[in-house]
Amino acid sequence: MSFNALYTDLSGYYDLMCEGINYHAQSNSAHRLHQIFGNAGTRHLDLACGTGPHIRHFIDSGYSSSGLDINQPMLDLAKLRCPEAHFTLQDMCDFGVDEPFDLITCFLYSIHYNSGIPKLKECIASVHGALSESGVFCFNSVDKTKIDNGTRARHAVEHQGSRFVFSSGWNYRGSGEKQSLQLSIEKTTGEVTQAWQDEHPMVALSFAELHELLRPYFDVHVFEHDYEKITPWGQASGNALFVCVKK
Ligand SMILES: C[S@@+](CC[C@H](N)C(=O)[O-])C[C@H]1O[C@@H](n2cnc3c(N)ncnc32)[C@H](O)[C@@H]1O
Repeated sequence: MSFNALYTDLSGYYDLMCEGINYHAQSNSAHRLHQIFGNAGTRHLDLACGTGPHIRHFIDSGYSSSGLDINQPMLDLAKLRCPEAHFTLQDMCDFGVDEPFDLITCFLYSIHYNSGIPKLKECIASVHGALSESGVFCFNSVDKTKIDNGTRARHAVEHQGSRFVFSSGWNYRGSGEKQSLQLSIEKTTGEVTQAWQDEHPMVALSFAELHELLRPYFDVHVFEHDYEKITPWGQASGNALFVCVKK
């Protein structure tokens, strides 16, 4: 079992793993929410930006985008995808910026990469400090009380003569503030199969707890985890989109 190899030694496979993600829809959704709730500015920062797929879409939609990530191999790939963007190697729990941003995004549940509630609190304070007046922080989250350890997403893809099978799922023990993302990657070339198991420790909390952490800094709006339409969260789903407007 490795920890976070996907973002270092295996970073070259990250985009294959995410092939099925509709990055255009996600970016567009955050853009629309920013138009509704935000200040009409176009300075954008993507936290835990990975290989930069959202940044590409934001730049193409007229934003001036920057990216922040803790793993240099991911930033190297992001720079190839978005040569015009500015990238910094930082931990999102305690980051600094040279100028304020109008929109800060954090996709694919990456906000949970803060390693505990105290770090998450620091991250929220850093985001607040990095936003301009009425700036928007938009991210998705999973509620620990709704995690089903038996659910796994799986998909296969052919690439350069190899077949890759990716599978991922949450694991939460039912108490405490730690959950993990468990990932497996299998690469088969001819008769030879290589397999990696990756475990990503993450912070676990309920939406009610998250709301409490955000409330001192933001007006918080919670929506269904649907990037095609804007629907207020109906309290039932364990995945949601948080739109936080700087107070
Ligand atoms: C699931 S990927 C998401 C990448 C991208 N946002 C996307 O949607 O494809 C999580 C990213 O978070 C980064 N990461 C993990 N811990 C971090 C931290 N403490 N600060 C900043 N980035 C972090 C990883 O390096 C990785 O690129």
